[in-house]
Amino acid sequence: MNLNILRLITVLGMLFHFSGSTAGEWEKHVGRIVIPFGVTANQLPDPQSKGAALFKSYCGQCHNLPSPRMHSKDDWPMRFEKMMDHAKLIAGASPDINIPVDKEKQEIVAYLEKNGFRGLPATALLRGESQAFNVIWFCSVCHAVPDPDQFPAKEWGNIVDRMNSYRKKQGREEMSHSDRKEVINFLARVRKYNKGD
Ligand code: HEC
Ligand code: HEC
Repeated sequence: MNLNILRLITVLGMLFHFSGSTAGEWEKHVGRIVIPFGVTANQLPDPQSKGAALFKSYCGQCHNLPSPRMHSKDDWPMRFEKMMDHAKLIAGASPDINIPVDKEKQEIVAYLEKNGFRGLPATALLRGESQAFNVIWFCSVCHAVPDPDQFPAKEWGNIVDRMNSYRKKQGREEMSHSDRKEVINFLARVRKYNKGD
């Protein structure tokens, strides 16, 4: 069987597995949740800002602080909402959980949107390029596929190596030499057409 098809089946299997877990299951584990590759308060972007302060106090209640750079700008509002669902569910059993008021919610989401990376739009032509599958495979297990344009070509090698080290630490399949080359190639290539074409 083609390797890419095998990978796709694995992803679908994982999605199915997680969609079946119930609120009760994770409630038991809350407090033991560790967000991988999180940050300490003084490593936050704009640490003195109001957004950072709110993020720190509300988002560190159930787990360590995730990096505000680990999701795309577009994904953060949805992730935020999911966290509010967790908070509402848990608040019943644990009155210590504080839920931000509307104005604070807006501040936190604005802070996350400001610091998240730019995702590659679902309609981008780049997604049709033959190397795109490998990028989606190796990157989207943790977050959206980034738009290649936002970093200078020469920075992608370092970023991809950092991400590969995260994969390794999590016990995930590491990129082979040729996978790594393909992924960096895709991200660092200067395209001749505009993305909106
Ligand atoms: C009431 C408890 C609770 C609060 C408060 C909370 N989280 Fe979470 N968070 C969880 C649970 C449970 C998980 C693991 C399940 C999951 O991924 O949804 C999690 C996982 C995560 C993850 C890793 C999964 C992913 O989407 O990448 C991120 C990032 C995250 N939270 C961000 C936040 C942010 C930002 C806030 C503040 C707005 C926040 N959390 C507040 C309970 C909470
Ligand atoms: C195991 C989880 C994981 C995987 C897989 C992963 N990332 Fe990340 N990514 C993160 C985390 C955590 C952060 C935030 C911390 C950081 O930037 O080191 C992040 C941040 C980023 C950022 C923002 C960096 C910045 O400085 O603003 C980019 C761009 C990125 N990842 C690209 C990629 C690419 C490209 C791939 C696939 C080759 C990938 N990621 C795979 C976890 C992952």
